[in-house]
Amino acid sequence: MYGNDFSAEDAPGGGLLGEVEAAEVALREAAERGRRVGAPGPDQDLAAYFAEVIEADQKIEPRDWMPEAYRKTLIRQIAQHAHSEIIGMQPEGNWISRAPSLKRKAILLAKVQDEAGHGLYLYAAAETLGISRDELVELLLNGRQKYSSIFNYPTLTWADVGAIGWLVDGAAIVNQVPLCRCSYGPYARAMIRVCKEESFHQRQGFEILHTLTHGTGAQKAMAQDALDRWWYPSLAMFGPPDTDSTHSAQSMAWKIKRFSNDELRQRFVDMCVQQAEILGLTIPDPGLRWNESRQSYDFTQPDYDELMRVIKGDGPCNRQRAEHRRRAHDEGTWVREAAVAYAAKRAEKKEKVAA
Ligand code: 3HC
Repeated sequence: MYGNDFSAEDAPGGGLLGEVEAAEVALREAAERGRRVGAPGPDQDLAAYFAEVIEADQKIEPRDWMPEAYRKTLIRQIAQHAHSEIIGMQPEGNWISRAPSLKRKAILLAKVQDEAGHGLYLYAAAETLGISRDELVELLLNGRQKYSSIFNYPTLTWADVGAIGWLVDGAAIVNQVPLCRCSYGPYARAMIRVCKEESFHQRQGFEILHTLTHGTGAQKAMAQDALDRWWYPSLAMFGPPDTDSTHSAQSMAWKIKRFSNDELRQRFVDMCVQQAEILGLTIPDPGLRWNESRQSYDFTQPDYDELMRVIKGDGPCNRQRAEHRRRAHDEGTWVREAAVAYAAKRAEKKEKVAA
């Protein structure tokens, strides 16, 4: 049994892949059916039409009119998400050259490459909102757009690669499965593919930890130490508590977000408890206990002051991550120039053949 192989009956939140598949079917059916809410008439109020499409749970597409604040919120969230995928390659990339076997190295390489692919789908989705990828990358490089707090923590041991897969990708899936039903079509469609791949990532992390916890005493201790360090930062990934969340209410009204930060955090905790038991690891929370009346686990909240400090740039690795990204961007200039020149040559060739 690997990570999210847990069935819905076995573990609360375990049927996540089923939810992705259901969202994919719903998207396909909606596309085949066309809009129930017909195109706006020449005199129809566009804001009212937008509200009607959202109310009918249908997708807003790039060609549609949308409120400026909806567009801005989506650009902020999708860009932050794309940047997270790209910056998120660093902590794991740190272990590619030191993976314990050729097989582990090949799997990790593929995983890190997938994250780059997720970044690309998401930048492409953001571009449909009228901003270019160059602009978005510039906003990341000059620190005006954020990326997820979680990637500002260091990967000290090989077990951290397992913990990132199990917990960070696990949290990412819990957060992202509902985004497959986001009201903005290009984001929802990108999330279907991302979630399927993240599911493999979570399994590979769980499997790394499973191997370690069934190995020597030192390997099990290394796995426990990784869980001890990654647990609370993973809970914090879901964002500030609902009472302090700036955007949740509006994003939920627009059906961009389907659940609040706290609802998803709870879902994640409930999912992890049984998985930790199977791994033979202890979640580092003395306050963790089953609450019969809520049918959920009570747990200790992460330190939200720490989350805010990390978001504002004062985490253990913020500076290092930003510097590395800038250096990689500069060193990649010639690759981007070569790709543009190659594309131009191919287009020229095609034109000549057509003429
Ligand atoms: N890290 C950094 N910033 C965060 C954050 C976090 N973990 N959580 C919240 N914030 C920021 C918000 O961006 C917002 O900042 P702003 O107003 O200055 O832009 C502020 O804190 C207040 O938070 P809100 O709850 O009001 O923000 P949102 O409604 O946007 O909710 C979110 C936050 C749940 C992260 C939401 O944006 C979201 O679902 N985003 C999409 C998923 C995503 O970006 N995930 C990142 C991880 S991707 C990943 O892990 C890759 C995988 O390969 C592992």
